Amino acid sequence: MTAKILIIPGDGIGPEIISQAANILDELESSCGLNISCEWGELGGEAYDRTGSPLPESTLKMAKECDAVLFGAAGGSQWDSLPRHLRPETALLRLRRELDLFANLRPAILFPCLATSSTLKDEVVAGLDMMIVRELTGGIYFGEPRGVETLDSGKRRGINTLVYHEDEIARITHVAFEIARKRANRVCSVDKANVLETTELWRQVVSDVAESHYPDVELTHMLVDNAAMQLVREPKQFDVIVTTNMFGDILSDISAMLTGSIGMLPSASLDSSQKGLYEPVHGTAPDIAGQDKANPLAAILSLAMLLRYTLNEGELAMKVEQAVERVIEKGMRTPDIYFTEAQLVGTRQMGQEVRDELRLLLAWSGWKFIW
Ligand code: IPM
Ligand code: MG
Repeated sequence: MTAKILIIPGDGIGPEIISQAANILDELESSCGLNISCEWGELGGEAYDRTGSPLPESTLKMAKECDAVLFGAAGGSQWDSLPRHLRPETALLRLRRELDLFANLRPAILFPCLATSSTLKDEVVAGLDMMIVRELTGGIYFGEPRGVETLDSGKRRGINTLVYHEDEIARITHVAFEIARKRANRVCSVDKANVLETTELWRQVVSDVAESHYPDVELTHMLVDNAAMQLVREPKQFDVIVTTNMFGDILSDISAMLTGSIGMLPSASLDSSQKGLYEPVHGTAPDIAGQDKANPLAAILSLAMLLRYTLNEGELAMKVEQAVERVIEKGMRTPDIYFTEAQLVGTRQMGQEVRDELRLLLAWSGWKFIW
């Protein structure tokens, strides 16, 4: 069976990093016969400028028909003043929702040789390996009513609604616990149950699912303010964190910074059938776009997640991750992870180095791919 992959470069540094990830896909096709067909689509500000819509219908159609989407980034200040429904971020949120990508997996793994890139002390972060499982299609991001209204008094009032159905909580809980079973078997559920009723329900449902299905996995609960503090105080206490859409958005940026560079972190957003959208966590970085300075490793590691979660190619995923690790161990650094003795490289060279290492790794293991 041929897997269909939709590649969407998007805005800012999206195109340059995604083109490096696409080169890695080429390598996998040519070196080991990975059976895929790729299409290219557009989403975000550039798509709006060209077509009048940040999520053209053609992109949405292709996204619905493919097995996986590999996405760069969307957004930029030039589109910030557009009406909300035309903004790049809204297009991304709509795509997540239309594809029912409710499970957002954001690993924070520190490559040993990057420990000094973190703003925290080596001993606090060395060996860090945690996974944030963020609910992605519900909560305050999508709750109704929402909007800004003008009252009779002439004063304006803004409203967003935090709402979760218990089934939405249960399904993300299952994802987190299944992942924990393949890791260190510990889940920490993060909420604000001392103040918000919706997250009181969250806590109850997580506990019920854990008790009835996962007695072998350790479950703890933590309030979100404390979790933010614990992440910088002692991040290695966490294995899997499961939390709401907005708390996950915030906590995953903190955990990204623990690893030294947000330029290293991939993510996967999955539906219930292993279809997924894979994107780096870092966003568009417009200040360095088009200058061959962006770090393509998060995009390449996102591709590794695509191999693992949608294509069930865990071994190939590991090869890609090993290739990335070897390149950074050799001292190759894009500016975001640079230190004085390292070799400064651009986006293209970094991508090429990973491709070369991958080719060697595949040849050494005599890899032959049989679909
Ligand atoms: C993220 C981003 C998005 C979010 C924005 C761009 C809509 O911050 O993926 O973390 O808030 O989900
Ligand atoms: Mg975010």
